[in-house]
Amino acid sequence: MSILVTGGAGFIGSHTSVELLNAGYDIVIVDNYINSSPKSLERIRQITGKEFRAYEVDLCDAAALEKVFAENPDIDSAIHFAGLKAVGESVSQPIRYYSNNLISTFNLVNLLGKYNAKRIVFSSSATVYGMPKTVPIREDFPLSTTNPYGETKLMIERILKDLWVSDNEWSVSILRYFNPIGAHKSGLIGENPKGIPNNLLPYVAKVAAGQLPFLSVYGSDYDTKDGTGVRDYIHVVDLAKAHLKALERAAKVTGVEHFNIGTGTGYSVLEIVKAYEKASGLTVNYKIVDRRPGDIATCYADPKKAYEVLGWRAEYNIEDMCRDLANWQAQNPNGYDD
Ligand code: UFG
Repeated sequence: MSILVTGGAGFIGSHTSVELLNAGYDIVIVDNYINSSPKSLERIRQITGKEFRAYEVDLCDAAALEKVFAENPDIDSAIHFAGLKAVGESVSQPIRYYSNNLISTFNLVNLLGKYNAKRIVFSSSATVYGMPKTVPIREDFPLSTTNPYGETKLMIERILKDLWVSDNEWSVSILRYFNPIGAHKSGLIGENPKGIPNNLLPYVAKVAAGQLPFLSVYGSDYDTKDGTGVRDYIHVVDLAKAHLKALERAAKVTGVEHFNIGTGTGYSVLEIVKAYEKASGLTVNYKIVDRRPGDIATCYADPKKAYEVLGWRAEYNIEDMCRDLANWQAQNPNGYDD
């Protein structure tokens, strides 16, 4: 039996592929390389010493995706990472985001149903909690979104639930990621944003490396420990392992379940700057600027449900995350383009 990994060349997909292969799963990766590099596949092979199947396919191309299913009848479940994911871009290109993220998911679930592989682990995001009134955030908190990217995540969550209502043979595991950072300890795979990074940690790493002049810290007047935004950063390898636990559970039970995947601890932007400086031995120049529109002050998970139901919890701390990111950055100053 094999696991279809959509978006398997991307940041979270590549780390999860490594964990799957190390655990003895057979995998089939599909990726269109729009936001990723096929070079990550070579690195996955290098880390694991294992072979796997991979296709350059856009999930919006139903015929091409069906060919993958037809050629790999052993696929019995999917981990669905593929999707466009930049918040700001989703505001300026909403139709592209809605059509890409929804059509790809429709094609995938149609084929999973047709080929009797009714198990899916879906990459959702803490963004579905909108502006939470309190923290830590539990899975039963009210859901809302503030941008088209988040809206696609919430829509897909609802679509997958309706799918299960229509056919109780499905197992749907919805993982709501907090802020994934870090890299594999080998330094061979990591986050590889195209152009100037939007997210904090890739930006910090590039400032420390001298590739960008300074970090803009978006706001220092939030009601937080030091006035800067607080988030629940999680090591990408911990996050990857949560997918294996979700798969194990999906093999045993049908239904729809939602899990927060975070550490339960929040760090401010300035704490992150300090942690990265310590881990890398480099300096992170920064300037305080205005708040970024749409940002919330504080966001961190209550990850208890994932522990109780999946037996998963984060093992790496912020020092590990910064060290592994710094190692990836040092070994690959230009990501996979080196
Ligand atoms: N920040 C800066 N400067 C930067 C980038 C970020 O100060 O250059 C701050 C932000 O204001 C925020 C924190 O660093 O306080 C983290 O920002 P990120 O952009 O790294 O992450 P977000 O929490 O804003 O966004 C993440 C994911 C989104 C998801 C969102 C909500 O990237 O996909 O969480 O779950 F939608």
